[in-house]
Amino acid sequence: MEGRELLLQPRLACLAACTPHGVRLADIGTDHGYLPVWLLQHGIIRSAIAADINAQPLAHARRTAAACGVTEKMTFRLCDGLDGIHADEVDAIAIAGMGGETIVDILTRAPWALKSDITLLLQPMTKPEVLRFWLVTNGYKIVSERLIRDKGVLYAVIVATAGVSAPISMAQAYCGVETVHEALYGEYVEERIAKLMRAAEGLRRAKCADAAERIAGLEAVVAELRQRKGEWEHDDGTGR
Ligand SMILES: C[S@@+](CC[C@H](N)C(=O)[O-])C[C@H]1O[C@@H](n2cnc3c(N)ncnc32)[C@H](O)[C@@H]1O
Repeated sequence: MEGRELLLQPRLACLAACTPHGVRLADIGTDHGYLPVWLLQHGIIRSAIAADINAQPLAHARRTAAACGVTEKMTFRLCDGLDGIHADEVDAIAIAGMGGETIVDILTRAPWALKSDITLLLQPMTKPEVLRFWLVTNGYKIVSERLIRDKGVLYAVIVATAGVSAPISMAQAYCGVETVHEALYGEYVEERIAKLMRAAEGLRRAKCADAAERIAGLEAVVAELRQRKGEWEHDDGTGR
């Protein structure tokens, strides 16, 4: 291995473990560029486009690539989302470390990603339920999900491709479908329940006109999540 060897934090290592071998990867919102650089250093991907909407992070990615000796296998694009990427350049797209709604916005503006045979590697920092729901109602299939704890925070990594999905309930949007195979599923569901309960409490305090209806909606999701967690525990936590 040429140059400095990178050590990935668990969240990025989880994304790296989900990356198909031999692909041309676009990393959108690359920032430091650690993910594509590590994947190139370990010979897992063929080439990488590191893209960012801001010049400073992109310069950081260039420095990482140079320090690690992989510059000739990378290109760097200053662009918003997938605006500067072409369908025939990539086999996989990583969008990590952004909010679920931002990821949805980026994918909505790039319908070509659905038409081509591209693997999406997505890691939302917030609102994974918005992303999951959007994926399954917009022509994508969630093929796998991993859960990873990094510095005390639980993250989901979602792998999706074009495909037909069975409809999912709101509770499944919150806790994931494929996450049931993960050892951290029980903790993940508990965190999702706690978040929904806080939202219900906020509505109770706000006393807005439709509060009762919205609280009832959240409580229905919580009830389904509790049931799913109970079934998972009964199945000895394997989800199979
Ligand atoms: C928190 S960093 C995540 C870095 C890396 N992907 C990770 O997961 O560690 C978010 C990066 O996304 C970039 N970003 C935010 N919105 C973007 C967009 N619409 N298109 C491209 N990059 C974006 C920011 O400039 C920033 O560098």
